Amino acid sequence: MNKVQVIGTGSYVPEKIVTNEDLSCIMDTSDEWISSRTGIRERRISEGENTSDMATKAALKAIEMANIKPEDIDLLIVATITPDSFTPSVACMVQGNINAVNATCFDLSAACSGFIYGITVATQFITTGAARTILVVGAETMSKALNWEDRNTCVLFGDGAGAAVLRASDKGGVLAIYTGSEGSKGNALTCGAMPVINPYVREKTDYIPENYKIQMDGREVFKFAVRTMTKGVEKLLEDAKCSIEDIKYIIPHQANHRIIESAIKKLSISEEKFYINLDRYGNTSGASIAIALDEMVQKNMLKTGDKILLIGFGAGLTYGGLIIEW
Ligand code: UT7
Repeated sequence: MNKVQVIGTGSYVPEKIVTNEDLSCIMDTSDEWISSRTGIRERRISEGENTSDMATKAALKAIEMANIKPEDIDLLIVATITPDSFTPSVACMVQGNINAVNATCFDLSAACSGFIYGITVATQFITTGAARTILVVGAETMSKALNWEDRNTCVLFGDGAGAAVLRASDKGGVLAIYTGSEGSKGNALTCGAMPVINPYVREKTDYIPENYKIQMDGREVFKFAVRTMTKGVEKLLEDAKCSIEDIKYIIPHQANHRIIESAIKKLSISEEKFYINLDRYGNTSGASIAIALDEMVQKNMLKTGDKILLIGFGAGLTYGGLIIEW
């Protein structure tokens, strides 16, 4: 069985910075409320770029770092809940943009757990020998899915993309995987698609635009997040036969500083192990862990042999984590 190594990362965020102060000029909120409840201070918001544009930019950077050619890519997965269109997929759009002519392409919908799910799928393809070089991208234009009249949700999210190139290897790589879903709790965080309207539907459906934007029961998601993060970290350590001391860094999904703090308390882990950048980007859903990972790579924080733990949770509801040896 092949091992699976990350050989390149890349990320891209839109130029436009929107601070909490900026938001307080267009809605009834404040820097004090947002930063004390979430830790978020600013986020990047698209001024027109769509998910495939950002995904392409992150992908090109990851390909450059991996020192491969686009035609080396066998499989291209984009994790997103904010695609440009139902079809073609963002993955196919990225394929066209970067000329990855030999790739099989598809999108994966697992919200904030999307990048973890993407690496999980890629790992199965590589370990079995079905693919050798895989590009996994997490990309979101959350700003187009937000109800900008709903201060409960719109202050929390941001736009961006992160990417990783994975390749078959004989050393290191993905040491443990933990994923799961709780579909029965899906109503806690939703974003609707098209209602069923056709000449044969007897009961008329009113199209209410707000129903097709992000809606969330924040407290329910908060509890789910702390529970699954805590269990996930414990399970991953057990499966990889590691202790927490063996892990150099933990990269959590960047949703809310208080969620991370609660998990830290429950797990009795030092906060220094956690890489946190949500103060600058807010919650970029499927892109969040990928952007954080690339930032750490750019800062030269990861050395060969370091073990890192990635852990996410999100709409679906979904959760998942990985331990990767760098
Ligand atoms: O990737 C997963 C994504 N989901 C999440 O990360 C969500 C997890 N949940 C959370 O992060 C938290 O539940 C929130 C940050 C969303 C909310 O924090 P909370 O401490 O649970 O606040 P709350 O919902 O209990 O709201 C408290 C008050 C309410 O006012 P009243 O009813 O007590 O008078 C809200 O109307 O805060 C008010 N509020 C705001 N005030 C100013 C809600 N949003 C805002 C806002 N600015 N943006």
